[in-house]
Amino acid sequence: MNSKINSIISGTGAALPGTIITNPDLEKMVETSDEWIVSRTGIRERRKLEEGFSNVDLTETASRQALERAGLEPSELDMIIVATVTPDYPTPSTSCLLQARLKASRAAALDLAAGCTGFVYALTVAHQFILSGACKNILVVGSEVLSRVTDWEDRSTCVLFGDGAGAVVLSPTDEDRGILDFSLHCDGRGAELLMIPAGGSRMPACSESLQNRMHFIKMNGNEIFKFAVKAVEENLSVMMGRQGIGSDDLDYLFLHQANLRIIEHVRKRLRLPREKVPVNIDRFGNTSSATIPIAIHEEVLSGRLRQGDLVAMVAFGAGLTWGGVLMKW
Ligand code: UT7
Repeated sequence: MNSKINSIISGTGAALPGTIITNPDLEKMVETSDEWIVSRTGIRERRKLEEGFSNVDLTETASRQALERAGLEPSELDMIIVATVTPDYPTPSTSCLLQARLKASRAAALDLAAGCTGFVYALTVAHQFILSGACKNILVVGSEVLSRVTDWEDRSTCVLFGDGAGAVVLSPTDEDRGILDFSLHCDGRGAELLMIPAGGSRMPACSESLQNRMHFIKMNGNEIFKFAVKAVEENLSVMMGRQGIGSDDLDYLFLHQANLRIIEHVRKRLRLPREKVPVNIDRFGNTSSATIPIAIHEEVLSGRLRQGDLVAMVAFGAGLTWGGVLMKW
């Protein structure tokens, strides 16, 4: 192992379905209002994947962009990790379907389920394979089709989620940049706060589970909200403390997009200007493991995110899981 090796993001991509569901559209489906949704969540619209398409279609589009921007052929990939809670099938993994689509003949492939923290977990796992020297180029994708596990009759959840994918290629560098720190956590005692109760081996699909709408997301939003604010702040302060970094030093903070109130609370506590804390929840809703890589890709495309920038990303979600990565871009 070369001790000078670090991992950098060498390419980014994103995919968002064309179908837009606005708040007024939802007003026609459940007892809700644009005013409630905007003031409580910051969401104005979200994307919904069209019938006939599935998660792997989103992963493929985002991944091809990321590979092109990294200047790599699929055959140069050593591994593909897809972070998702909405795979095409319980088995095989969506990463295997993506590997076939891309014809990434040399790549190992695995899915990683860590709820909305999935992308941060996957990036950290990929980083270890690069640090060890076992892999060079790893495709890391966060991709979700949450519209298919959303209960469109439950106003407490159906206004929140959206479909989308973000992808990055992680590659080795011997330059003085890359991942500086990471911090991953779990508290499984909170598993029931956010779950899809049926469709797994504990409660396989049956007429009763369908009747009781158990194949849809169930969430205790209030409890997750309280946990999220604390988890994000602690996570950031641990990583920044370890690296001797103050919030003034941060060029970017990519936060999981679950609620604009959480994002604004953290931004204000750290006294960061709006342009350093990108927001896409207004346009895409909560896309779970995809929120952060989509936001990163948008900042790369805009030309604002530049080499040498100090970037933090922090996510939280089902599990309960939470985690962050600190990197010099
Ligand atoms: O992505 C990973 C994990 N997920 C999260 O991080 C989500 C974190 N939680 C949240 O973002 C917020 O808790 C929510 C947006 C989910 C909910 O906001 P809240 O301010 O915590 O609302 P609440 O659940 O306490 O509900 C307040 C009221 C209730 O009515 P009553 O009992 O006070 O009469 C709800 O029935 O708002 C009602 N309500 C709605 N009203 C209109 C809930 N959903 C809606 C709705 N439209 N869509």
